[in-house]
Amino acid sequence: MKTLENKVAIITGSGSGIGKAAALLFAQEGAKVVVSDIQEEHGKAVVEEIKSQGGEAFFFKADTSKPAENDALVKATVEKYGKLDIAVNNAGIGGPLGMTGDYPLEGWQKVIDINLSGVFYGMHYQLPAMQKNGGGVIVNIASILGMAGTRFSPAYVAAKHGVVGLTKATALEYATMNIRVNSIGPGYIMTPLLTNALDEATLKQVEALHPIGRLGKSEEVAELILWLSSPKSSFVTGSYYAVDGGYLAQ
Ligand SMILES: NC(=O)c1ccc[n+]([C@@H]2O[C@H](COP(=O)([O-])OP(=O)(O)OC[C@H]3O[C@@H](n4cnc5c(N)ncnc54)[C@H](O)[C@@H]3O)[C@@H](O)[C@H]2O)c1
Repeated sequence: MKTLENKVAIITGSGSGIGKAAALLFAQEGAKVVVSDIQEEHGKAVVEEIKSQGGEAFFFKADTSKPAENDALVKATVEKYGKLDIAVNNAGIGGPLGMTGDYPLEGWQKVIDINLSGVFYGMHYQLPAMQKNGGGVIVNIASILGMAGTRFSPAYVAAKHGVVGLTKATALEYATMNIRVNSIGPGYIMTPLLTNALDEATLKQVEALHPIGRLGKSEEVAELILWLSSPKSSFVTGSYYAVDGGYLAQ
């Protein structure tokens, strides 16, 4: 039997990068996957890829920074597949770069709205659906920057630290209700979020921050998401797991 046989999973921001890799892996492991993103074309292409491999998926457009769209996403999932077992709150942006004293206020708000409030709004609607179903699993995608700081990304660092704390708080509330909630912290991963923001020289500098000597791949992060979403991690809740090539060990 496959690891996620008969499970229904929502993955936000799964039109690209880490979310896309998780969607493909989940489908290979037998899950019915709700691919959600603001980029419709990308999301629909992921659904096509899943179907071409014999998997089951559908696309639902939702902006995670808008409460009503998170609500609609959960409702559409339950309507189509009858339940919700797993949610991966992955949608995120890098945001502007700048010193805190110069940081654009609208950039701050946008990053907090998507990267932190988006995770709260997601869980706010996912949790009651999971309770109705007798349990579930949530994996929130934080970052190494949810544990350590870096210069020039105050909003991103604050939001990701917030996701780690929010994950712990929610995990405690639902621990006896058969709902596990964990966060993960990828190091720098080769996705459009990174390659669109940084030039070659900066990418080399960032690579050097990882003891393992390279950047990570989305598929390597997806494997940890899968494990945390599966019954194999049945005693794990409220935790933060790094998948960072040794970045935080320094
Ligand atoms: N790439 C990295 O180095 C890295 C490191 C640590 C953590 N992360 C986190 O991993 C997650 C995925 O990032 P990625 O690197 O795969 O990026 P990506 O840009 O490849 O994918 C992110 C996806 O999220 C979607 N998205 C953006 N805003 C959205 C919104 N408001 N509602 C719904 N979807 C939205 C985008 O359209 C995109 O398809 C993010 O939370 C990011 O912060 C990434």
